Amino acid sequence: MAEELPTEVSEQEKVSEAEIAVHWKEEEYYYPSEAFVEQANAADPAILERFSEEHFPECFQEYSDLLAWDEPWNQMLDSSNPPFWRWFVGGRLNASYNCLDRHLEKYGDKAAIIWVPEPESEETQFITYSDLHRRVNEFAALLQDFCELKTGDRVTFYLPMIPELPVSMLACARIGVIHSEVFGGFSGAACGDRIADSGSHILVTVDGYYRSGELQDHKARADEALDAAAKLGQTVDKVLVWRRHPGQYASKSPMVEGRDFFVDEIIGKYRDEVVTPVSMPAEAPLFLMYTSGTTGRPKGCQHSTGGYLAYVAGTAKYYEDIHPEDIYWCTADIGWITGHSYIVYGPLMLGTTTVIYEGVPTYPDAGRAWRIAEKLGVNIFHTAPTMIRMLRKLGPDEPAKYDYHFKHLTTVGEPIEPEVWRWYHEVIGKGEAVIVDTWWQTENGGFLGSTLPAVHPMKPGSCGPAVLGIYPVIYDEDGKEVPAGSGRAGNICIRNPWPGLCQTVWGQPERFVDIYYGKFCKDRSSKDWHDWPYLAGDGAVQAADGYFRILGRVDDVINVAGHRLGTKEIESAALTVDEVSEAAAVPVVDEVRGRAVEIYVALKPGTAPSKAIENKVKEAVDRLIGKIARPRSVWIVQDMPKTRSGKIMRRVIAAISNFGDVGDVSTLANPEIVDEIRHHVQSEKVKRGDQPRELTPEEAAELRSFGHAE
Ligand code: WT7
Repeated sequence: MAEELPTEVSEQEKVSEAEIAVHWKEEEYYYPSEAFVEQANAADPAILERFSEEHFPECFQEYSDLLAWDEPWNQMLDSSNPPFWRWFVGGRLNASYNCLDRHLEKYGDKAAIIWVPEPESEETQFITYSDLHRRVNEFAALLQDFCELKTGDRVTFYLPMIPELPVSMLACARIGVIHSEVFGGFSGAACGDRIADSGSHILVTVDGYYRSGELQDHKARADEALDAAAKLGQTVDKVLVWRRHPGQYASKSPMVEGRDFFVDEIIGKYRDEVVTPVSMPAEAPLFLMYTSGTTGRPKGCQHSTGGYLAYVAGTAKYYEDIHPEDIYWCTADIGWITGHSYIVYGPLMLGTTTVIYEGVPTYPDAGRAWRIAEKLGVNIFHTAPTMIRMLRKLGPDEPAKYDYHFKHLTTVGEPIEPEVWRWYHEVIGKGEAVIVDTWWQTENGGFLGSTLPAVHPMKPGSCGPAVLGIYPVIYDEDGKEVPAGSGRAGNICIRNPWPGLCQTVWGQPERFVDIYYGKFCKDRSSKDWHDWPYLAGDGAVQAADGYFRILGRVDDVINVAGHRLGTKEIESAALTVDEVSEAAAVPVVDEVRGRAVEIYVALKPGTAPSKAIENKVKEAVDRLIGKIARPRSVWIVQDMPKTRSGKIMRRVIAAISNFGDVGDVSTLANPEIVDEIRHHVQSEKVKRGDQPRELTPEEAAELRSFGHAE
């Protein structure tokens, strides 16, 4: 991480940042309805006391009691080897048993999953707990027998939003195999990296799926992933291909004899087979979830079985307020942590019905989401600010036309503007629903900051206080505590370990220590967890009432539509273009996606700038990462603004792209370049009509700290 302190931030700048914060308008509280409070899983404020710091770590007994254990644990928390915390030591359990078998008697005939295909002409599928149990068992049998998988092996999935994804996850979990799902929208190359990093010999994928009305050729991209993995030295022995329409092949990519198999052709052999769930130690890894960090190599966050499941069950019960009789719909993709925790594991552990929708919630029109909600009786709806902004833009009056009633709404993934929050509350929520703004990260397993919906009032733009059993602190750059109500922003950290936190970065334990603990652990030899605050990488301010307002990333991560993209990854992709010698990716404020990516490139000597090079850069990013990371603009510049030590000042470029204040640039090695770039970029933007509105103080503060963690 920090190779050198961000000397570019002068004392004066720190002060002005503080002043900005002080002047933020305090938003008014909103209160839950009586009807909500009456039925809530946690309505008694006594729960806050039970989870207060003096009851740590025993408080998490309540969460572990939500699980079915084969063997009870004998030690709640083993913190003897910081920061590799072990939870529920000695306990044994199975994730698939916890999501399926234990519900069969009571809920066997109830829908576990309602799957909504994107084409409206295709029928919605109601998959009961018994059906799901059967499908999971058959696939588990196939994985065990046909693929010869055993506990501890890794399997990569490259699957979109189809029921076969949770079936595959739970089948792996049933036999103690570690699953690693790669978001279906990522490029084949990105998937290949993750196959290689996890050491998977088996890939599970699908021939195609619908998105925005088109049947995507997904198998072709899976083949690219296999090539990319092979180049990194990882051979995949078997590729299991589910078919979107069994019996029909949607891809143009040929099946490779002896390697590729249609699941629908081989699963018949395992019809009605039952696989005994393998009793796994609480500490056994359940899955890997890759995320972007401050360097190019993606990080495989390794999540445990016992700690993760307990944390997700507890937070889903109290914060999502899930009851078995609810119809719950989260629009995230299962390819992200939100989907793992709050589409699959959380809802199924609690025996509720979880809706999985294949496609784009605004396809074919802005009413689609509300037709789904009305038809299925969805009463808990969970989405991201980017989706709310999109729904508001495309159909501000649409929700009122449909007869659905939400009791509960979630927002997650990025800060939500108070104005957008109010629209969510009044229009989507029809003024009836509570909102929880849940702040957390891939690494965390479950929520870190949120209001407890029947206990705390809501405040637009703030996630709320820390959740049960989480004790945060905000540190300034020097590690001094920034008190609540000071109006100053700093680095939000969590002082204590918690069961949902990932165990390590797969295969890179030293990176786990450096990234999350390197900055504020004062004594690496300390065996006391109090000396190991977890660094989230977000800037935050805490108001006098204890509520946190999250400002966004302080490291080199750009949050596009709630998805984390590392600047280094995007830059590495740009550098694969022959003509490019240097690249710097920065965030720009975007009305719908929160942030979009712009990339600045310098060319090799003697190369003339051209539209063709710009396009090559965009294509390289598409191909190597995925469309989600595609830069909105590629700016070819003579040179990058750099410090005397040669570091590219992304903060300065970000300010230019956003028409913000570049601050003091006099200490740069080449200050004259700043005006040149500004003139070039901003006049072009004005010509294109691409000039953003004035930045809010929050945005200005975020951009000011962007790139500090270089
Ligand atoms: C980053 C984590 C796990 C949730 C999905 C994203 C930002 C997340 C909020 C929120 C403000 C938020 C943070 C965080 N973020 N939720 N409610 N308010 N910012 O997971 O890809 O690991 O990204 O998303 O910057 O660090 P992720």
